[in-house]
Amino acid sequence: MKNCVIAFEQASQTEALRRSEKLKSALLDAVTHDIRTPLTSIKASVTTLISELKREISLDERSKYEMLLVIDEECNRLNNYTEKLIELARIEAGDLRLYRRWKALDEIINTAVENSKQILINHKLNVKLSEELPAVLVDSHAIAEVIYLLIDNAVKYSPEQSLIMITASAINDAVEIMVEDEGIGIPVEFREKVFDKFFRVNEGGARKGVGMGLAIAKSLIEAHGDSIRIEDTKKRKGTRFVIRLPIGDN
Ligand SMILES: Nc1ncnc2c1ncn2[C@@H]1O[C@H](COP(=O)(O)OP(=O)(O)O)[C@@H](O)[C@H]1O
Ligand SMILES: [Mg+2]
Repeated sequence: MKNCVIAFEQASQTEALRRSEKLKSALLDAVTHDIRTPLTSIKASVTTLISELKREISLDERSKYEMLLVIDEECNRLNNYTEKLIELARIEAGDLRLYRRWKALDEIINTAVENSKQILINHKLNVKLSEELPAVLVDSHAIAEVIYLLIDNAVKYSPEQSLIMITASAINDAVEIMVEDEGIGIPVEFREKVFDKFFRVNEGGARKGVGMGLAIAKSLIEAHGDSIRIEDTKKRKGTRFVIRLPIGDN
């Protein structure tokens, strides 16, 4: 029996080690891809612009403008990436403070939709909130951020002009918020894994991303004692995320 316990402990240590190695290599991949790729573009553009200023080469206005746009966009990407890394590190260090207040759910959803205006320009959006939505005792910024992250994914993983639906309704002692798209969908076998940090189905295909959105979303939701899951959509394509917030002051 004792041997058995020791063997078990060793096995779980090996497993922990294996997981931490895997995490390190995922982190390394992420850093290589998500930090070096933008840095390489920025560096290339800046070097070219400096050469032009030194009159070593000549560029027309249009090319210079395009290089500045590249620099601007890649800086935004790095900024966004760093913010997410910091947020995730904070969450993992247990430094996540929620400021819970009673808040109307439609207000929270409207804030998230308002913040998503820019990214939603090439999609159709349908927001359907049932009339008698109760107030919820949550950190409204955190919940709005989660909804934003789900909208961001819905946009990214579905074709332009397709429909994104947001619905909210009270179900027994909880409210459920759904964000649904008509995109590429998530195979059933990955519906837990996608919440792991840095995990991306097929490395995200051609789509840019860092694999931190859902890990952040899940931590924020679980910090509330609430849950988030993925369901089949009624149509045969697309993805439906469901956030479940219990009503009541526990
Ligand atoms: N709405 C969606 N439709 C299809 N796949 C999705 C959707 N949302 C998330 N995914 C998959 O889950 C992965 C993890 O999502 P996320 O953590 O937000 O990272 P990112 O969007 O940066 O890749 C994505 O790379 C993608 O493979
Ligand atoms: Mg994402």
